Amino acid sequence: MPVSASKDASLDPADWEDFRELAHEAVDDTIDLLRTLRERPAWSRIPDKVVGQLQAPVPWEGSSERIAYEEFRSLIEPYTNGNRHPRFFGWVQGCGIPLASLAEFLASSMNPHMAGFTQSGPIVEAQVLDWMKAFIRYPPDSSGILLSGGTMANITGLAIARVARHPGNYRMEGLQNRDMGRMVFYGSSETHGWAGKAAEWLGLGRASYSTLPVDADYQISLTALRTTIEADRSAGRVPFCVIANAGTINTGAIDPLADLADLCELEGLWLHVDGAYGALAAATTKYGALLKGLDRADSVAFDLHKWFYLPFEIGCLLVRDADRHRQTFAAEGAYIEGHKRGVIEAGLPFAHLGIELTRGFKALKAWMCCKAYGLDRFAAAIQRNVDDIQAIVRVIDSTRELERLAPAPLNVVCFRYKAAGLTDAELNALNEEILYRIQESGVGVPSSTTLNGIVALRLANVNHRATFSDLLVIVEAVVACGAALRAAA
Ligand SMILES: Cc1ncc(COP(=O)(O)O)c(C=O)c1O
Repeated sequence: MPVSASKDASLDPADWEDFRELAHEAVDDTIDLLRTLRERPAWSRIPDKVVGQLQAPVPWEGSSERIAYEEFRSLIEPYTNGNRHPRFFGWVQGCGIPLASLAEFLASSMNPHMAGFTQSGPIVEAQVLDWMKAFIRYPPDSSGILLSGGTMANITGLAIARVARHPGNYRMEGLQNRDMGRMVFYGSSETHGWAGKAAEWLGLGRASYSTLPVDADYQISLTALRTTIEADRSAGRVPFCVIANAGTINTGAIDPLADLADLCELEGLWLHVDGAYGALAAATTKYGALLKGLDRADSVAFDLHKWFYLPFEIGCLLVRDADRHRQTFAAEGAYIEGHKRGVIEAGLPFAHLGIELTRGFKALKAWMCCKAYGLDRFAAAIQRNVDDIQAIVRVIDSTRELERLAPAPLNVVCFRYKAAGLTDAELNALNEEILYRIQESGVGVPSSTTLNGIVALRLANVNHRATFSDLLVIVEAVVACGAALRAAA
């Protein structure tokens, strides 16, 4: 194919003043859009025509910076999944913060290599990690790293557990030692899908991941856990880790963290907490006690792109034993070691704390927002999200046409529209249709899940733009839509 015949090999703008004008325009357009989100549909389907336009031939020849921006504006920008809208309550997706968007521009313009080096970026990341430890009340001398998200933070935690609790030398032997039984870890049946993927990816295999039943509150059964550990040991297997949930994906259940910490201490197991969003509630005065025992976990994973509201991607792993963390990933290489002065004098600290070498400056958006708004304001927003869900729980519980399907201890509620005389299968179909109609109407975005075979509408509030009224709009839409569908049946 053609090789670029560009006169100038540099990719800097040919005309910096034109570029300045375009950049100002992009900022103005973005601010106009973000301040009027509430007036727009939460979601609108991307038209087939636009999909076709986005499946264009390889652009061997460029157009211009302005044309690229204009195509972004018309073909890409309007068609999001809606998660920045004030009435988005689907899955668990943060809504972003305008200052963080600005920080991402600044971070990528600086473009520091965040493995380390003698520069400001890694100092900023270390600061952000210290602030996060304080925010979730985790020991200040713990270690940590920012990662792309909850899946990576959780998998990294499990990888450390595997090395820390391997009966031999994991880094030398891996899992190939045939004298050793299968290493096994545990989580409840409500644990997010990352854990199964992790079992595969870390070479343990799915058979190494034991999922335990939950009680009526969707919390892990401690009795079943104790029995399974004992049975595994008797069968020659090697239990190494328990995953506790601090906020399950389905219902927001929090496993009994303090009891699990006691059990893990007794059994010599690593306690890893998947606190993808729930761990952040530890910062609130009102709901912090729900997370009692979090500070005793050996590692905890959470996302700043969920309940810390930052734009994707930014996840965080904290590890109590800093040496253990480093021992898992400490890397070697003549090209990175032993420099007494110069650009790499400070070494590559983050290369020794995870699997990645080149990393972006995710820390800056967290640092700028923490500086600008203060951590108390984040804690207040989180607390308000829970308060609003608790208020909507009261509305659901007092509405004849609605039925709550699970306890709602935190910021997630699962419920359904009900109508007399319909079977569960018919109610499942009805609620599925309600979900689609609400999403397609653009009024807002709830999502759904299945609890014991029952389709549940689900509202998860990690949205700093949302108010109680926004939640109420969705609940009223469910009632209205359910009634209309019944009337038409
Ligand atoms: C409890 C829980 N764990 C893990 C994850 C995965 O996080 P991520 O999507 O950031 O990889 C999620 C995502 O919603 C989650 O809710």
